[in-house]
Amino acid sequence: MIAPEVFTFPDIQALARAAAEEVVQTLRAALEARGEASLVLAGGSTPQPLYRQLAQCHANALEWKRVSVFFGDERFVPPDDEQSNFRLAAETLLAGLAFDAERVHPVPTTAGGPEAAAQAYEERLRACFGEEPAFDLVLLGIGEDGHTASLFPDSPALEERARWVVATEAPPSAPVRERITLTLPALSAGRTVLFLASGEGKRAALDAVFRDPEQTPPAQMVGARERLLWFVDEAVGMG
Ligand code: 6PG
Repeated sequence: MIAPEVFTFPDIQALARAAAEEVVQTLRAALEARGEASLVLAGGSTPQPLYRQLAQCHANALEWKRVSVFFGDERFVPPDDEQSNFRLAAETLLAGLAFDAERVHPVPTTAGGPEAAAQAYEERLRACFGEEPAFDLVLLGIGEDGHTASLFPDSPALEERARWVVATEAPPSAPVRERITLTLPALSAGRTVLFLASGEGKRAALDAVFRDPEQTPPAQMVGARERLLWFVDEAVGMG
């Protein structure tokens, strides 16, 4: 597995600025190499400053209309629900940059159930990538329990090696239990995988990933084809 590279920033705003530069450079390189790029967005709150930074300061940095946008996971709620990762991205990132709506691929959460949504999303991904997924950049967060996307500790979804998308269930404490998530093979198909972690609440999770050989949290199971990056702030305590 690719060795992770950890970068520590004074605070979440500095982290967001650096992450925005990383996103732009990575997507620019992809556009130069292949004429198009693919970006997988993370849910939750940590990416919000990054999404706002991109929308406010990088609108002209590249041809956003040639970037395809996917979601690493989604809560099984309508797209206008306050718990929706799509809504989070739409309000912070998508509204501010000139993406081509045809290239923005939300997880379909308005018809059927979570399993049907997972199957439909996998079909969408396979229509885009063929036999193998190959995202240029995958953004991920980490939960206090070490989960990432909607891959939670001890979940059977962690064993999935053939499917790219599955339906999962978050723990009872989670705001929404029914989830759809990309699997480890799909997330690890990112040429660059960039984890974002901020705040003292994530110290234990980062310790489990980087310092405790007895623990193997889901976030530690994600690889990358070329670069596995962690952007963290000082409150996380990796310095
Ligand atoms: C989600 C995310 C999830 C998130 C972590 C961290 O749908 O909630 O995919 O994996 O990245 O829970 O969330 P915060 O950034 O809000 O701490």
